[in-house]
Amino acid sequence: MTSRIAVLVSGRGSNLQAILDAIANHTLDAEIVGVFSNKHDAPALQRVPPALRWSAEGKSFPDRLAFDEALGNAVAAVRPDWVVCAGYMRILSDSFIDRFRGCLLNIHPSLLPKYRGLRTHARALAAGDAQHGASVHFLVPELDAGTVIAQTSIEVQPQDSPDSLAQRLLPLEHSLLVASLQLVCAGRVSEQGDMAILDGQPLLKPLHLDSTGRFS
Ligand code: GRF
Repeated sequence: MTSRIAVLVSGRGSNLQAILDAIANHTLDAEIVGVFSNKHDAPALQRVPPALRWSAEGKSFPDRLAFDEALGNAVAAVRPDWVVCAGYMRILSDSFIDRFRGCLLNIHPSLLPKYRGLRTHARALAAGDAQHGASVHFLVPELDAGTVIAQTSIEVQPQDSPDSLAQRLLPLEHSLLVASLQLVCAGRVSEQGDMAILDGQPLLKPLHLDSTGRFS
């Protein structure tokens, strides 16, 4: 059955575009039922028709809980099977996460558990890491701490800057997000407690997307 996906965005929306492209070329059996942003001017919103857009600015709400209540109501109204944070740069409250727990996914540009939070590329370089990457994980109240479903990695080159790392990683992030959504939308992956289940078995370590775009 075609999955209903809501996407939360704050910026340019290249990950959203990867999902839209995968749906358009029939590699992902899903439908985008809403795109939600904490920025009225997020370029990502322009990637979908006006009827699918919702945005609100944090400063027009008394606090984070009130904002997330409005966001959560708008998301719930489109009855999503999956809620995907794709470059959503505002911390979600515990109440929002509890409301959608189990169907809430995030793409994060690091090899979690390394580098939760921001500036992941600069931190990987500063640490002298040989490998860097991205992770798709379930959301839990602790920031970037939920069970990781899948990862992809690249080798760090001696001449890399944070920008060059981000640029090389981005297309792989897109493949990783789409491949992960293929699994969850097919009903093959779910969250049970603080564990991910793949094909009925506990996923003991994240899947790894190789350079051919397949999981190993
Ligand atoms: C991506 O690198 C994502 O991993 C991070 O923010 C960036 C968003 O890019 N959380 P885009 O808005 O999808 O182009």
